Amino acid sequence: MLRRIKWLFFLCLLMIVVGVLAALWLLPGTFSAKSAPPEWEIKIARFIRHMATPSHFLKMSNPVQLSSEILAEARHHFADHCATCHANDGSGKTSMGPNFYPPVPDLRDPVIQDMQDGELFYVIHFGIRFTGMPAWGKGAPEEDQESWNLVHFIRQLPNITPEEIAEMKKDNPMSRTEREQQDMLDQFLSGEDVDPATAHHH
Ligand code: HEC
Repeated sequence: MLRRIKWLFFLCLLMIVVGVLAALWLLPGTFSAKSAPPEWEIKIARFIRHMATPSHFLKMSNPVQLSSEILAEARHHFADHCATCHANDGSGKTSMGPNFYPPVPDLRDPVIQDMQDGELFYVIHFGIRFTGMPAWGKGAPEEDQESWNLVHFIRQLPNITPEEIAEMKKDNPMSRTEREQQDMLDQFLSGEDVDPATAHHH
């Protein structure tokens, strides 16, 4: 009996030592967002996320009737709220996009395009915990038409035109410097006496 307890005690001690060593080995860098998650981690995370999406959302199809007005509205919205991370064309090629862990995906990719409408809506409304993807829905999901509009827009991303992207650039958030330059240019163009080349100081 005593021998058994001694063994058990020894085993526990060994497990603690191994645990501490493993933690010390893993911890430095564990919380860095510099690396990209390995393929298997992405697959498992996607699977778990799919399973964790309530089934009545998965079954929903977009209740918003697609129209050019709805798409135009969603384009403005996306340019203003989403493009900082996702880029106007959905490629995710922004200064922040690739540096998240996990990185911002290309929304035109089949992995995203193959998701159900309701699943995309769920992601936009509720966000994705432990990632850089915020929750955008205010109030009850039933009243969140804007996120459904965005689902329509994401579906259109693979066919977005250069003209539409140019239009979106006007809605992208601007830094103060960009805003000042723009104001200066507007004043200049409206005939006021400022020279945009020299009037701006750094
Ligand atoms: C602050 C950065 C940021 C902003 C702003 C942002 N996203 Fe995201 N988004 C992310 C990141 C990071 C991911 C990747 C999350 C992951 O892979 O789990 C993501 C993922 C997604 C996905 C893919 C979900 C999936 O299953 O892979 C969709 C769709 C999406 N975002 C839509 C939007 C829309 C629409 C907006 C604007 C309303 C938006 N995002 C704004 C960072 C952002």
